[in-house]
Amino acid sequence: MPNQVTIRDLRKLKAAGTPIVCVTAYDQLTATLAERAEVDLVLVGDSLGNVVQGKPTTLPVTMAEMVYHTEIVARLTQRALVVADLPFGSYGGDPHLAFENAVALMKAGAHAVKLEGPYVDLIRSLVQAGIPVMGHLGFTPQSVHAFGGFRVQGRGEAGERITEDALALQEAGAFAIVLELMPAEVASSITEKLDVPTIGIGAGAECDGQIQVIHDALGLGDFKPKHAKTFVEGLDLLSEGLRSYSREVRAKSFPTDEHSA
Ligand code: KIV
Repeated sequence: MPNQVTIRDLRKLKAAGTPIVCVTAYDQLTATLAERAEVDLVLVGDSLGNVVQGKPTTLPVTMAEMVYHTEIVARLTQRALVVADLPFGSYGGDPHLAFENAVALMKAGAHAVKLEGPYVDLIRSLVQAGIPVMGHLGFTPQSVHAFGGFRVQGRGEAGERITEDALALQEAGAFAIVLELMPAEVASSITEKLDVPTIGIGAGAECDGQIQVIHDALGLGDFKPKHAKTFVEGLDLLSEGLRSYSREVRAKSFPTDEHSA
């Protein structure tokens, strides 16, 4: 894989059947971790509302916050494709606003933007304006209240509607589509039908790639969603480190001469 992963590389990975590895990042620490893990795509997700700001939903996240975090992550990422989320209220219903906000994220360093839902015409117009767009279907967290909670989407006939939406987003020019919280069979069938890669989260193993919120993967949060796997108990590990610092200061065993100027 070349130094900088491109949208075209994602297509090649799909064609080769090589899983695409994606993770979220929000700041220097998480961007560095993603870079060291050599992931293919970093998403500056509006999940920062949950895992950085400690809020129950992504709805309060603002454009200014997204621009701030996108600038940090993009500046510190060399290899991965950097995608930034358009937050709630920054695109739906107003193509001019959407264009301005997408441009702001690209100027902050993103290579592409992501938006939630079947906004086919909007995606077409952003793509025509030279802004690569990643789609997001299934459970779309900005619509949590419209869905009546954190619920699996696409069961039964609803699966056909999501499939139609996915095909429409591809036709409008989306370069990849996140499929979140839907039956694995639905995600698998969408993946087969599309030429562009699907990136799953809680959507089974047959998507072309997977994305996880980095705090979930590293055990840095208290909330453990069912679709997430904790690859390391980060909070426990880091708490132990900080408790050691605290113990040593109290015991006057830190700092020593070695740590003094
Ligand atoms: O904001 C986010 O982290 C996301 C992922 C869950 C796909 O949209």
